[in-house]
Amino acid sequence: MDFQYTEEQIAIQQAAREFAQKELLPGVIERDEHQKFPAEQIKKLGELGFLGIMVDPNYGGAGMDTVSYVLAMEELSKVDASASVVVSVNNSLVCWGLEAFGSEEQKQKYLIPLASGQVHGAFLLSEPEAGSDATSQRTTAEDKGDYYLMNGTKNWITNGSSATYYLVIAQTDIEKGHKGINAFIVEKAWAGITIGNKENKMGIRGSDTHSIMFQDVKVPKENRIGEDGFGFKFAMKVLAGGRIGIAAQALGIASGAYELSLKYAKERRAFGTEIMNHQAIQFKLADMATEIEAARLLIMKAAFLKDQHEDYAIASSMAKVFASEVAMKTTTEAVQIHGGYGYVKEYHVERLMRDAKITQIYEGTSEVQRIVIGRSILK
Ligand code: CAA
Repeated sequence: MDFQYTEEQIAIQQAAREFAQKELLPGVIERDEHQKFPAEQIKKLGELGFLGIMVDPNYGGAGMDTVSYVLAMEELSKVDASASVVVSVNNSLVCWGLEAFGSEEQKQKYLIPLASGQVHGAFLLSEPEAGSDATSQRTTAEDKGDYYLMNGTKNWITNGSSATYYLVIAQTDIEKGHKGINAFIVEKAWAGITIGNKENKMGIRGSDTHSIMFQDVKVPKENRIGEDGFGFKFAMKVLAGGRIGIAAQALGIASGAYELSLKYAKERRAFGTEIMNHQAIQFKLADMATEIEAARLLIMKAAFLKDQHEDYAIASSMAKVFASEVAMKTTTEAVQIHGGYGYVKEYHVERLMRDAKITQIYEGTSEVQRIVIGRSILK
């Protein structure tokens, strides 16, 4: 076992940390307040290679490993989870899905601009009645010979309005159940696509979450990913990797709140001394540090298994369920340590607490992760 990071991994961690401090921190409170998408910041992240961290350089990516991706996600998420979710969705769900399962033509046409950061993408699985129950897809893609005709509505789509390309999961043959589901590359500019209003969310308010409606959208046959009926397995495989990204986001939110709490505890005085000298505060900081480290180890194990091309689905569910609970607990305690200051926006921890909650919900709720883990240990 080797717990040391390589020079390359440390370099991306530092680059992400610097970017977060220099480019994300200024304006993060305002973007949250006004639900403003971090468009300029995402453009710069794309130029620096953060939108295709794990993609082969032949397809426009940075060619780094999953451990590097986790380190970058943690640093960005310490400061701005609305920006880091764009990085996570584009890297884990969109680029990885295309690189692993797309045809050569699909990679040339779509992966290169997505991985090199010229554009970014979105992953359209959730529906009004198919969130956790992902096999119950109502969006249809009817085979019309040389194209599919797509109809339906997708909900809670991260990057819904800012993405240029969508990966859409749809039912092509209801009789076949989940074996009749396919995944398609759809261009947002195509006729028949309507973008609903931006959701007014509790957290990650800068990210653009929308419903997307499809009405008689013609999807060329060559835009189906993989063999006919591969769509549900595609979604499950992609989400297993996505859960590493969201776990890393949760880790970053937790460690961001912890670092702010540590600093505050050293400065703030009460009862004649800095509050760090009170055991009540020390115990909170000790629990935060311990739980963050445990989350990091679970996430790195999942990332390591993925890099070794071993099965990482259970490891990523364990990492996500644990890290997201640590994020919620740590940010709540961070607000408590900050007292009244923690409850106002200037000190950042109230935003981190609101942002933490989504990590227990998207890319599979904590309950879904427990289903995945439970089934594996009981079978
Ligand atoms: N890899 C490959 N195949 C897999 C798999 C995996 N990790 N997990 C399941 N499958 C296969 C199964 O083997 C099975 O195939 P066979 O029938 O051929 O054996 C098939 O998929 C169906 O599996 P299940 O019977 O387990 O399916 P289920 O209906 O019981 O659902 C579930 C299982 C885990 C609850 C699944 O529906 C699920 O993960 N739900 C959550 C969906 C989710 O994460 N949504 C997030 C939306 S995306 C998002 O949030 C992005 C964003 O914007 C940030």
